[in-house]
Amino acid sequence: MLFCISILMASVATINADQVLPSSVLPLEDNPDTVQVIPDPVTSVDAEPTEIRYDCRGSTMCPTIHVKACDEAVNSKLIRDDNVNYGAIRSGMPRVGECYGIASDYGCGVLIQGPKNCTRTGNDMWWDYQEIRSNGCHHCGHKYWSDWGCKTTIDYFPVCGIWH
Ligand SMILES: *[C@@H]1O[C@H](CO)[C@@H](O)[C@H](O)[C@H]1NC(C)=O
Repeated sequence: MLFCISILMASVATINADQVLPSSVLPLEDNPDTVQVIPDPVTSVDAEPTEIRYDCRGSTMCPTIHVKACDEAVNSKLIRDDNVNYGAIRSGMPRVGECYGIASDYGCGVLIQGPKNCTRTGNDMWWDYQEIRSNGCHHCGHKYWSDWGCKTTIDYFPVCGIWH
């Protein structure tokens, strides 16, 4: 069991570093309009309030994204529980996110980005996705949810196929 997990994590790490997020597909400025600030509803007593922000930025290919692919990634592929299964590259978490492509190897990815201590549960990511959408982002977008740069990202990925 442990062996299998190690293999899984190793392969995911390789995929993440080398193929899923090559620097050439990192989000570029797309539509830097919608930026909203709302208070964090779950700020604990002893922590500084985290400024939650949203934007609808992403790769220049964002307008071509199939929103249904994003929905599919979030509703069908995301591990929707309260375990911390997701994290930024080098976080050591089993997965960075989920990606889904319709009839092609490109598609929509929903993932965690930021420093390696950015980790998240699938349920949190599901809500992040809904919030990004309700903040007016029809294709790509981000929710920034920590003071040190963690974000949940919806973006176009040309190599989505390997996430299937
Ligand atoms: C996460 O890492 C960043 C540096 O990358 C640091 O500033 C921040 O305090 C860390 N947060 C926690 C909770 O460890």
